[in-house]
Amino acid sequence: MKSLIIYATKYGTVEKASNLIKDKMKDEVVIVNILKQDPPSLIEFDNIILGGSIYIGNIQKKLKQFAINHEEELLMKRVGLFICGGADKEEEKDKELKNAFPAKLYENAICKCSFGYEYKFEKLNFFEKAMIKKITGIKGSVYKLSEDTIEDFTNAMNRTI
Ligand SMILES: Cc1cc2nc3c(=O)[nH]c(=O)nc-3n(C[C@H](O)[C@H](O)[C@H](O)COP(=O)(O)O)c2cc1C
Repeated sequence: MKSLIIYATKYGTVEKASNLIKDKMKDEVVIVNILKQDPPSLIEFDNIILGGSIYIGNIQKKLKQFAINHEEELLMKRVGLFICGGADKEEEKDKELKNAFPAKLYENAICKCSFGYEYKFEKLNFFEKAMIKKITGIKGSVYKLSEDTIEDFTNAMNRTI
């Protein structure tokens, strides 16, 4: 079972999550940052995982557009979808996850999860820091990536029966 992980990240959280998935997946895994590299043809892959992060309510455009352009092909595969985002409420996380991908793909996905988030204050610009402080009250770096959720997600992708 060959797997392809296609991800988009701004400050590295989704990349970290993608690498955690890669390390736990059985068999061969190809991993691609869609913001830096065009993904390969999907033909040779059994599992396709798409992951991105949420900024002002939306996932990276390039990743969403890829999912839209390849929807028919993706519907023939075992697909896993994930986001990283700062929402804490389950309802909000579900809304962001659902909004991030085409509806049919979301419904057909083997697993779909929100993995949590990080804020790396040393990397944010002045406006981003001000915005995060104002909206969330958070004033410094935090690590809230749920490695347990990532493990459950990977186990579901690895399960074949
Ligand atoms: C300017 C800014 C806007 C953000 N907007 C949202 C948002 O609308 N919803 C959300 O859930 N998270 C939001 N986040 C949180 C990011 O999704 C979170 O920090 C994530 O871990 C970033 O992942 P990345 O480093 O892979 O891009 C925002 C973060 C920043 C810095």
